[in-house]
Amino acid sequence: MLKIAPSILSADFTRLREEINDALAGGADWLHVDVMDGLFVPNITVGIPVVKSLRKATDAFLDVHLMIDRPERYVAQFCDAGADLVTFHVEAAQPQNLLEAIDIVKSRGKRVGLVLKPRTPAEVVTPYAPPLDLVLVMTVEPGFGGQSFMEDQLPKLRALRALLDRVNPDCELEVDGGIDAVTAPLVTAAGANVLVAGSAVFNHADRAAAIAAIRAACGERVR
Ligand code: DX5
Ligand code: ZN
Repeated sequence: MLKIAPSILSADFTRLREEINDALAGGADWLHVDVMDGLFVPNITVGIPVVKSLRKATDAFLDVHLMIDRPERYVAQFCDAGADLVTFHVEAAQPQNLLEAIDIVKSRGKRVGLVLKPRTPAEVVTPYAPPLDLVLVMTVEPGFGGQSFMEDQLPKLRALRALLDRVNPDCELEVDGGIDAVTAPLVTAAGANVLVAGSAVFNHADRAAAIAAIRAACGERVR
């Protein structure tokens, strides 16, 4: 089942409640929250207080994407703030600390995912794969919304789907960056089933139409 996860990074933060309600009423499945620390990526966005506020404002599934250095230091706080899924980058910590972070999230009853930057190969996931609920492939260099989709990530998506089908077939495959009605069918054909879309949803006045266009392009019936 295809899931669309609008990224609030492209929303109007002064009207965040209306923005998320608009996206959810328009057919969004999850809400994607981009957390950036100015170290792992050259940008700073939002953190724990915003996740807490979102949790109070909605029952919707909160997909929290940590673009932060050494995520093992903060994953517990993001779980407790109300994230439903916490994802962090395989490039952001030492292997033993990644395993520790995965354990922390699972022990709090939340879903956990690993994220790969565009230049990170699919195989790095292998030692971590069994407990993962999701793998996220960046289809732009992380840091900013509104960038162009990197088509060279499609073979990696196919490789990851095949790898996961062998060891953890229930693991979901998410993509993030430059996803719109043109690129969505490419990534779903390559095995992705969760699509983050920031500017493609929030830069359009009619969010329902924007989400419906992505679904329709992937051959899904619009709900
Ligand atoms: C980029 C973020 C993305 C971003 C996507 O580092 O992780 O979630 O908001 O924005 P679009 O869909 O505009 O590429
Ligand atoms: Zn993201």
